[in-house]
Formats: sequence, C-alpha cells, structure tokens
Amino acid sequence: MNSTDKGINENIALNVPEKTILFEIAWEVCNQVGGIYTVIRSKVPSVIQKWGKDNYFLVGPYFAEQAAAHFDPATDFSTPIGKAVLKMQERGFDVYYGQWIVSGRPNVVLFNPYSVYDKLGEIKHFLWQDFHISMPGNDELLDKVAAFGYQVKEFFHYLCSTKFCEGPVITHFHEWMAGLPIPGIRKENLNIKIVFTTHATLLGRYLAMNDHRFYDHLPFYNWEAEATKFNVKSIAEIERASAHGAHVFTTVSEVTGKECTHLLGRTPDMILPNGLNIRRFEALHQIQNQHVQVKEQIHDFVMGHFFQSYSFDLDKTLYFFTSGRYEYHNKGYDLTLEALARLNWKMQQANSDMTVVSFFITKRPFYTFNPDVLHSKAQIEDVRGVCEEIKQQVGKQLYTKITSSDGPYQFPDLSALVDDYLRLKLRRNVQSWKTHQLPKIVTHTLIDDAKDEILNFLRTANLVNNRHDKVKVVYHPDFISTSNPLFKMDYNQFVRGCHLGIFPSMYEPWGYTPLECLASGLPSITSDMAGFGDYVVKEVSGNDAKGLYIINRRGRDFYEVAEDLANKLFAFVQMSRRERIALRYRCEEASLHFDWSNLGKYYDDAYNLVIER
Ligand code: G6P
Ligand code: GLC
Repeated sequence: MNSTDKGINENIALNVPEKTILFEIAWEVCNQVGGIYTVIRSKVPSVIQKWGKDNYFLVGPYFAEQAAAHFDPATDFSTPIGKAVLKMQERGFDVYYGQWIVSGRPNVVLFNPYSVYDKLGEIKHFLWQDFHISMPGNDELLDKVAAFGYQVKEFFHYLCSTKFCEGPVITHFHEWMAGLPIPGIRKENLNIKIVFTTHATLLGRYLAMNDHRFYDHLPFYNWEAEATKFNVKSIAEIERASAHGAHVFTTVSEVTGKECTHLLGRTPDMILPNGLNIRRFEALHQIQNQHVQVKEQIHDFVMGHFFQSYSFDLDKTLYFFTSGRYEYHNKGYDLTLEALARLNWKMQQANSDMTVVSFFITKRPFYTFNPDVLHSKAQIEDVRGVCEEIKQQVGKQLYTKITSSDGPYQFPDLSALVDDYLRLKLRRNVQSWKTHQLPKIVTHTLIDDAKDEILNFLRTANLVNNRHDKVKVVYHPDFISTSNPLFKMDYNQFVRGCHLGIFPSMYEPWGYTPLECLASGLPSITSDMAGFGDYVVKEVSGNDAKGLYIINRRGRDFYEVAEDLANKLFAFVQMSRRERIALRYRCEEASLHFDWSNLGKYYDDAYNLVIER
C-alpha cells in the first residue's frame, strides 16, 4: 500500500501490494437488516483511512426506498468502476454507482435484484448444474439473493475482462446472502482474491433454538439431514459453497468458528472480531450528563405507566433492559426472566428500598399500542399541563402581589393564588387518571398474547407489577424510535438513560448489544456463550471492574446460572450512586479497545493472508 494512502493510525498491519483494490460485498450495504449493517457501516471511516477512498468499494443490493434515504448517485463515471457500471447498464442491468451517505461516504455499487427476474429460471438452473445448490421455486429472499449474486458475478466477470484485474483485487463477501457469487468466480477462475466472512450459520441458529445442548451435540449433527428437517437446505448449501470457495474463510468469534467446523465443514482461517466506531465526547462528564437527561425522559414514561396505580421513589429506581431479535431461548430472555424473578424475591427479603424497572425491547407481531397504556400517558400529560398552568398563574399573581403591596413585606400564601377553576381541573384530571388496576406488563396488544413466552413466564411467576414487587417489568414488543409516543427517543438514547443491559445469550455469534452499552458508558452482562462475551473473557483483563460482566453458562444447569445472574443483579442494586458513576466512566474508557482503529488489524491480517494465497 502506498504510504501516503495510509492514515495516521499506528495500528495498521496492512501489508498488501500498492494499488490493491478492496471490494466488500454485503446484503446490508445501504440496507439495514441487523448486525452486519453495524459491522460494515461503523468500519467505513477506518477502512478509508487505510485504503484511501479510491481503492475501496462497497457492493450491495438496490432497494429504491432504502436508496432514496441513503444513496447519493454519482455524476462522474470515468473511473474503471464507473465504466463497468455503464457497461452493465448497457446490458440491461439496473445498477447504480454513487456514495453511501454515512460517515466516510464510501463509493458503492448497488444492483437491483428485480432487474434480472426474467432470468431467474436460468440462474437457478446453473446454480444446480454447476454447484449442486438447489434453489426452491418461490422463496422471496432466495430469489432476490440469486438475482443479486448473478449480477455481482457478472460485474466481476466484466472487470476481469479489462485491464482492471491485472492489479491485485480483493473481494470480501459477508454472509450467505452475498456469498453466492463465490463458486461462480472460482469456476471462471477470475483473477481476484476472495475472503468470505460468515456472521453465523443459519443451521446453527435453528439447531440452537431447538436443542438446549446445542454445543455439546455440535460434532454429531448431520448437516444435510438437519438442514432438510428445518427446511433450510438451500441456505446451508450456499453457506458451505461460500466457505469452501473462499481463499480465506473467516467468522466473527471462536464460538462460531466451532460451529463452522462442524456444520460447514471448514474451520475458519481467522477470527475477525466486531468493533465499533467509538465516538468519544470531548469532556468526560458529558456521558454522565446525557445519562441524567435521558433518565429524566424515562422517568416520564415510568410515571405515566406506573404512578397511575401506585408510586415509588424514582431517585431509588434503576433501569435494566434487554433487547434484540425475538429468540426467547437463544437471546437468553428465559434466563433473564428467571433471574429477575429471583432478584425480586431477594430484594423483598432484604427489605431493599430500591426499585428495578426492567424493559424487554424486542419485536413481536402486535395489533397496536395497548389503549390503556396510551390513555394513561395522555392523562398524565394533561395533569402536567394543568400543573404548568398553575405554575404560570402563581408566578404572575405572586409578582403582582409582591410588587403592588405597600405595607411591610409579607410572603403571600401561594395556595391562595390558584383559582378554583384550576384547582378543580387538577383534581378532576388526577382523579380520572388514578386506577386500582395494576400497571400493564406489556405496552402493546400482541397478536398471540396467550402463546407469548415472555408473557407466559411473567404470569406464571406472578411477576406482574404488583405493588409489593421490587422488580417491575415493561415488555415493549417493538423497537423504539423517536416517533414512539411512549418514549420519544431512539434506541441509543434509551440505552444511555438506563443503568444496566442484560444479555446472557445462549446462542450469539458476536452480539453487539453489550458492546453498544459499553460505548455509551453503560455496564452490561453477557454470557461466555456469546462471541463477544467469550472474547472479553480471553482478551480483556479485569472485565468486571470495567462493567463487562460475564455469566458462565457453558455446561451448567439453567437454574444454577439463573441464581448466579440474580446474585450479580442484586450486587448491582446494592451499589451506591457514587460507585455507579465511577463504573460508567470505566465503561466508556474500556470501549476504546473495541474501536476499529484497534480491531481493524484482524481485517488487515486477513487481507495480507489472502494476497499470499
Ligand atoms: C450522572 C450525573 C449525576 C447523577 C448521576 C445519577 O452521573 O452526572 O449528577 O447523580 O448521573 O446516576 P444514577 O446511576 O443514580 O442514575
Ligand atoms: C449476526 C449475529 C450477531 C452478530 C452480527 C454481526 O447477526 O447473529 O451475533 O453480532 O451478525 O456480526
């Protein structure tokens, strides 16, 4: 690499020939679905710093709606990539070239899957004939993936028919949705180097959901039989073909590496742990200020939601939360619930004066917000409105009274300054708001309320926001965003206002949620079965003191682990405010380890290796 292209970063281990071009191909380029989006997007600034903007390209699918918000079309097509895009357009492909409007503004090439739908039959025929990848007739995602993959392969095929591929070219494919062109590229012997990173295996995810001893049984599964059973044969075949076709095969954690060995039949050459683009505040106290500010907003929600039935001391209330895809068992929601029930009991026994409100933020099919929840929220806003009116009235009256009084100074009776109309209004508002019902445990009306695992647990364990419960629960079966009437904030803000994140996953290739907590200066708990947790155990010394708590789940009994988790939670509840504040500082400090300026070195190593091969 030309040294002038390199950034100021000391951590650069990249050692590829000058003018090497890097392509990263992923389904989540300009298209947010899950964690891979975070990987690619957060990495961009550090990659550009090393590679220079002209040597780095991202390739993804084109979806008009997403593109409208995130993609800026190019006007200059004179570069080799621009020319290749024009060539593809001539051939009738609906392909776009421009910039992704994210930090770093990388160059992107986007292919519209629908533009080759007329060729789907033929594409699938050759996938079967050449690689024994069987694609079913009408699976929406697989059709899009096949159509996208075909165009990506044609694109590289074209580039390699020009002088472009005479210089070194690295293509880095992420996950099976993008990996499908790999076998074709190998078959045609194109002069490009291939790295493939899988961020999970689909079969592993399914098996883990259905087998509590997934990791113990890992060496003994027959991938083909299992894939057929779960009806995911095509995807398993694509994953295997991508993994075997790559010159360098990688994944995000050692735990997933083992899964690859057994389910994909190839052990990854390397592990590429996930980082973040850690943005630090100029002044450290700002993380603390943000925490109090957002906490106030969460207090608002909690008052609307709970105080209608009964109140508790908000100054002695802690906010815990868990979040993520709804995989009850894989995400450890089952364990979190069991531990919260135990924590509730422990706090009652200890006569704790604290209250814990624990949020479950995930996505489940629902009809709408629970009308009672919205109503209570609206009513408390009315109460607040009248309080404001009273405040103004008192202020004005007080000022007039004080300034116009001629006698000796006397402080007036403030209560007498409020007129009957407002008194009555306040009284009516408060009375119609108060209720004897218990605060709802779920904010929405779920489509399958009776079968919902979280609700079933809460009801069976009687953890239903009773007045005497020290642990309260708010199950919010939708992701939160600024347009959400209950919270009026986005997820990242919400995190900052909480005190502790709980993510004791049982299956999790990496798991960004605890890392996102850390970056926001928030302690969290995860498990040694999650890729991130496993990494922390091995690579981060003194992790407890940095607010990175790890629960050991491996080979242990569920209830034993739940008791452990409950004890950790209880210890956290007993911390003083001073200790919590100090811990938040240490969290933020520890997050630096996970900045791409540090973890990007693993990607560099993968590129060095693929050039050698
Ligand atoms: C921040 C603020 C403090 C506040 C504290 C509350 O650190 O700077 O002024 O007291 O948050 O922390 P807590 O853990 O009790 O929410
Ligand atoms: C997948 C994994 C998740 C990981 C993400 C990014 O979504 O399930 O654990 O964090 O990829 O690598």
